[in-house]
This record gives sequence, structure tokens and C-alpha cells, in this order.
Amino acid sequence: MYKDLENKVAVITGGSKGIGNAIAERFGQEGMSVVINYNSDEKGAQEAADNVKAQGGQAVIVKADISTEEGNQALLDAAIEHFGKLDVWVNNAGMEIKAPLTEMTLKDWNKVISIDETGVFLGSRTAVKYFTENDHQGNIINMSSVHQQIPWPTFASYAAAKGGVKLFTETIAMEYANKNIRVNSIGPGAINTPINAKKFADKAQYEKTVSLIPMDRIGKPEEVAAGAAWLASDQSSYVTGITLFIDGGMTLYPGFKNGEG
Ligand code: BGC
Repeated sequence: MYKDLENKVAVITGGSKGIGNAIAERFGQEGMSVVINYNSDEKGAQEAADNVKAQGGQAVIVKADISTEEGNQALLDAAIEHFGKLDVWVNNAGMEIKAPLTEMTLKDWNKVISIDETGVFLGSRTAVKYFTENDHQGNIINMSSVHQQIPWPTFASYAAAKGGVKLFTETIAMEYANKNIRVNSIGPGAINTPINAKKFADKAQYEKTVSLIPMDRIGKPEEVAAGAAWLASDQSSYVTGITLFIDGGMTLYPGFKNGEG
């Protein structure tokens, strides 16, 4: 637990399930107040809010489309209205659509980019405006992926968006480094979340994924949430512009693990 997180206020986009849900719960354990954003899964968001409260934190849920300016503004407004301020903004909402390049429609490309990349831009801009206009210490955490670094055939839109998130994070981290605002990313590997449920239900695909992980196991959402809590806390006070990979070693070129090459 991080003492300085107590009574801090966070916005988490895509908080109704998976990693976002786990971050909300962890922030609740830290005694934080959380605005939990959702798009369609109101029930999941409500459960996440109940969990935060059960852990000792406060929570409200807000339906909003984070690929729009109004959607992000609504999240900031909720933080101010219910909790009086904003300290931490987690751009977590994400999606992926599988298709070989020649079958990737412009519509699907735009959908992925609008959530995974434009959403991160808009969320960050909303938070940074608030921090700078109020002379407030600020913290932004962007959910990237191992695929900001590892090419991922049939997921070109997702990999392009996450590669964009990497340089966006580094660039705005530098832009605001001397203004008391830290900006970092987390790069999860294969984590046990709804985005992967179908894939992991297939034994062969599950085993193939595990074979890409030096630690030989899929990660847990709480293990990603632990990284988010550290990045949000003052224990990482000298850290900005990094991507914290939480991936069981997936980014370590596991194809070489027996000395191949
Ligand atoms: C994706 C998962 C995938 C993992 C490792 C993540 O960014 O969302 O679907 O299993 O990367 O490839």
C-alpha cells in the first residue's frame, strides 16, 4: 500500500472489466476515489464500483465514449463534481480487431485507432489541461501493450495504435516533465482478461501463448494493477516517459531462450 495515494482522485477509462476493473479495485484498496468509465457494460462498472467501496474507497460510474472530446470532458466533470479534484488519469480503454491487412476495412481500422490511440490523446489532453490550469501535480498512465514493441501480424491496427501510444507517452512526458506532471505507460503481455477469453478457451491457442512467455504462465489483472499503483504513487516520483512491461518476460525474445541464433 502507498500512503500518499489515500484520498487521491482517479479517472479510469474502460473500468468495467479486465485490467481497468483490477486497477479500480486496487485504487480502492489504496483508499482512493475513482471515476469508473464504461461504454456498454453498466453491470460490470457497477460491480467494479461496489468493489472499490468494499475496499474502503469511493466510486462513481460514468458512461462515456472516450473517443470523443465530450466523453472525456464528462469524466473530468464527474471527478470534480463528486470528489472535488483530479490527481490520476488512467487511459485504459482498448480494443482489438483481428484481420489480415488485405481484409482490414477502413471502418475497423478507424474504430481501433479511435479508441486505442485517439482516446489516449483526448484523455491525456483533458487531464493535462486540468493539471496546468489548476497548477496541480498530475499523473497519467496509458495502457499500452507488448505490441508497442512486438510486431503482431493480423493485428496491424492495434500494433500501430500501441506503437503510437509509446511515442505519444514519451513526447508528452517530455513536454510536461518540468511542470509536475508525470506520464508513463504500462505494457501488459498476455493477461487473463475478457479480451483474451475466447482465445484462451481454446487449449491449443492457450498453450501457444504460454510458450511465448518465459515465466510459463498467463498474467493476472492484479499484477498489472500493482504496476499502476506504483506509477500513480510518489514511490515512482522520478519516473516519467517509461513503459513498464508487465509481461512475464514476453518482450525478451523468447524464441532465443535455448541459445538459438
Ligand atoms: C493483447 C492480447 C495478447 C497480448 C500478447 C495484448 O496486448 O491485448 O490479446 O494476448 O497482447 O500477445
